[in-house]
Amino acid sequence: MMECEFGWRAGLLGGARMKVFVIGATGGVGRRLVRELVQRGDDVGGLHRRPDQASALRDMGAEPFDADLATMTEGDLASVVAGTDALVFTAGAGGGSAEMTTGIDGHGVSKSIAAAQAADVRRFILVSAFPEAWRERPRSEGFEHYLAVKKQADVELAASDLDWVILRPAELTDRTGSGTVSLSRALIHTTVSRDNVAATLAELVHHPTVSRLVLELTDGPHRIPEAIQALKV
Ligand SMILES: NC(=O)c1ccc[n+]([C@@H]2O[C@H](COP(=O)([O-])OP(=O)(O)OC[C@H]3O[C@@H](n4cnc5c(N)ncnc54)[C@H](OP(=O)(O)O)[C@@H]3O)[C@@H](O)[C@H]2O)c1
Repeated sequence: MMECEFGWRAGLLGGARMKVFVIGATGGVGRRLVRELVQRGDDVGGLHRRPDQASALRDMGAEPFDADLATMTEGDLASVVAGTDALVFTAGAGGGSAEMTTGIDGHGVSKSIAAAQAADVRRFILVSAFPEAWRERPRSEGFEHYLAVKKQADVELAASDLDWVILRPAELTDRTGSGTVSLSRALIHTTVSRDNVAATLAELVHHPTVSRLVLELTDGPHRIPEAIQALKV
């Protein structure tokens, strides 16, 4: 077992209780995921970049780590994630400038992959996007750049030696989660609630047999645990 400077101890992957680190823990998906994992009894750590976000994470039962993904080093991140069983990356520049998109959705993922490898955190779940999202809408340079950066991050993670899962949610909504989804290697792009994305991520964290797969996710008819079982991996 590995122990990091914060005293986390690695548990058993897929066991009843896991240590999970969330990058993007204060975001729309991230904070829902933190809540889900804490409710399941997991030990959860989360990155945040504003000091005032620490108490919200603590109130949810997670351990906050204050750092800016854009400027922290790979070594800093490795020491923060060391000792965890799984890392979930759900950060994003959220429609910021092209530079910010490259910095967070692109380089932020590269840095996180390198940190996971350095810290020997094998399980890495990446929230990505449908490459063909919004083809029916007028093109914008910023959105095309976002899709290209997301795809490049997928390519980099898929080429790594990690125990990875790439989850591509459709357009995110704040509708209350139905607990039912469609989850498959290929789907038509529609919408999915952030609640359902978070619940699916939490379930994937606990299903180590689902590995080295790109999965697409929309709201749909299947209960989340059953949708994962149906992947037949
Ligand atoms: N919107 C969609 O329809 C859609 C569709 C498919 C996939 N996605 C992807 O789904 C993921 C989650 O989306 P969401 O709606 O939850 O996004 P969100 O609410 O914008 O959350 C993004 C998270 O990233 C964090 N972050 C950004 N820059 C950071 C930095 N420099 N250092 C540390 N943390 C930083 C944010 O921190 P702060 O709280 O400090 O801002 C926040 O926690 C994203 O990767 C997004 O690209 C979105």
